[in-house]
Amino acid sequence: MTLSGAWSRTARGAMLLGDDGRLQQTIFGEMSALAVATGSINLGQGFPDEDGPAEVLEAARQAIRDGVNQYPPGNGMPVLRNAITAHQRRFYNLDVDPDLEVLVTAGATEALAATILALTDEGDEVVTLEPFYDSYAAMLGLNKVIHRTVALRAPDFQPDLDDLRAAVTDRTRLILINNPHNPTGAVLPVETLQLIVALAHEHDAIVVTDEVYEHLTFDAPHVPVATLAGARERTVTISSAGKTFNTTGWKIGWITAPTELLQAILAVKQYLTFANGAPFQPAIAVGLALPDTFFHNVAADLRGKRDVLSAGLTAAGFGVSAPQGGYFIVADAAPLGFHDAAAFCRQLPQLAGVVGVPLSAFVRPQNRAEYGSLLRFAFCKRKDVLERASAQLADLRR
Ligand SMILES: Cc1ncc(COP(=O)(O)O)c(C=O)c1O
Repeated sequence: MTLSGAWSRTARGAMLLGDDGRLQQTIFGEMSALAVATGSINLGQGFPDEDGPAEVLEAARQAIRDGVNQYPPGNGMPVLRNAITAHQRRFYNLDVDPDLEVLVTAGATEALAATILALTDEGDEVVTLEPFYDSYAAMLGLNKVIHRTVALRAPDFQPDLDDLRAAVTDRTRLILINNPHNPTGAVLPVETLQLIVALAHEHDAIVVTDEVYEHLTFDAPHVPVATLAGARERTVTISSAGKTFNTTGWKIGWITAPTELLQAILAVKQYLTFANGAPFQPAIAVGLALPDTFFHNVAADLRGKRDVLSAGLTAAGFGVSAPQGGYFIVADAAPLGFHDAAAFCRQLPQLAGVVGVPLSAFVRPQNRAEYGSLLRFAFCKRKDVLERASAQLADLRR
């Protein structure tokens, strides 16, 4: 039976289908499938190819052996909420109440979904940076929210402060930022964060800050928005264990926010997943309590990987960005004569046995031209893999 008619004009799920009414594979799915089909090195999707700390993995195994296999509490297990509180105090000198101001979620993805559903109404405006992580636009679209953006332009991918001032108005409900930033690797300077907080005050908006790469900064320690003067009471901070502990498949994320906001988000979250990842929650609590050297080494290691891929891409003839944090580097294929990154990404497995994703995947259709020749590569891979990818990409010049 083929369904058609009124439902598809109004149903929110239908909005995410393609023009032919079918599920559109995301560019990440398409490129990962291409990597498998061609035996290419997959620098498209951002997941590490090495396991995280042995203590964390062992703690999960132990939890399963100990029978931690049933529904955990909806707001998260006390052991993890307490560990998140201790982490916020240790790294940022922030005091959050583990019972009232911390919520464990099914990854940052559920945290974002629950926050957007809980804090916006149809017709509200939400301001994000652009390019943006793809779930932002999907969730804003599902909630029929008007999506305003502030462009991040090459080479440094920092927002223009006047553009920011112009984008935030009394209609703005949320200013949703991501810092360190996927896909550009930009880290927002404190002055920009301060302006965002000031604009939120001026227009009575809430700051939602996606800080999943908080421990992966290369030049300076991460500055959470919530630590800035006047920010805490109107800031929802989202993070995730996946990036810090190489456990992207566990989908353990969390939110810290003032009680009133957190309770509204929890009210929605309890009907999304209710709860997830029982044996992984105590394991991530172990991770968050690891010594400072662990956190230092994670960032230093990733910085070294960034340098390997950056040098490889430069030698291959790409224009290359200078990421200050996160998993990704932006490469410009124009100097090699390729001006359409989406088409280039589809050719790249054949040309060099490497997969990347076009930056246009993180941009609204009307703004794609501006990012035409740019693509994103993930460097959260083993150094030998990055070296091999670099050597293969060097063939592009020949
Ligand atoms: C900026 C950003 N936010 C959120 C997520 C999703 O995180 P999680 O896997 O914890 O749901 C990602 C994952 O790539 C990301 O890059």
